[in-house]
Amino acid sequence: MNVVSNDGSVVALVPAAGRGVRLGESTPKAFVAVGGTPMVRLAVDGLIASGAVDRVIVMVPAEFVDSAVALLPPSDSVRVVVGGAERVDSVRVGIAAAPDAGYFLVHDAARALTPPALIARVAAELRAGKPAVVPALPVVDTIKSVDALGGVTGTPDRAGLRAIQTPQGFAAGLLRDAYVAEGVAATDDAGLVELLGTRVHTIPGDPLAFKITTPLDLLLAHAVLDGADIRRAVGRT
Ligand code: C5P
Repeated sequence: MNVVSNDGSVVALVPAAGRGVRLGESTPKAFVAVGGTPMVRLAVDGLIASGAVDRVIVMVPAEFVDSAVALLPPSDSVRVVVGGAERVDSVRVGIAAAPDAGYFLVHDAARALTPPALIARVAAELRAGKPAVVPALPVVDTIKSVDALGGVTGTPDRAGLRAIQTPQGFAAGLLRDAYVAEGVAATDDAGLVELLGTRVHTIPGDPLAFKITTPLDLLLAHAVLDGADIRRAVGRT
């Protein structure tokens, strides 16, 4: 494991440097407003409201640094840095910006409505000694593997499948080790940790931690924030 001084603090890394083309908006996804507030601000507010995060580092496109600084809470604990070409590049930048972190929570800006209580649960599992923790939900659809022509090649047993959310939590040295190799490819951070042979633990996720990816997701997010009761439940009143 990388030997880096470790002050035991929980540092949240928020990748917000994607273009978000699937959302069909002209602004990068993290800067699209939900209920009047940009997603990246909602995500950072949720992390702070969890009470479990000491610092937040937000990775944004180079030309959005100034607007990110302006829209995020003015705090010494929140820092904005320039992200990279791919999500892994953005996370790598965030890791490098926190050499003294004890734990990392990697949390997509696109999961803007994640309840603070879920964030706190991930951090608590880390502090209790789990090296890698991810929120997981049972899948409701049947999942099939297909070949390049769209022919079905298999139907894994749904009972053994989970949809994985963020924040994904890691002992800091473990995540640093997982990101040592250049050119690594994975759709989530836990995937890189799994490649090291480390066991990743799941905890129950939350439907409100869904990733806002398509226009339908955006509509759903607006509807969620329109419901005052749900707004209270996710700590955003
Ligand atoms: O595209 P996708 O929804 O998988 O992106 C997940 C998160 O990663 C988003 O919050 C997005 O802004 C972020 N990202 C990033 N840097 C990139 C690409 C995506 O920070 N180059």
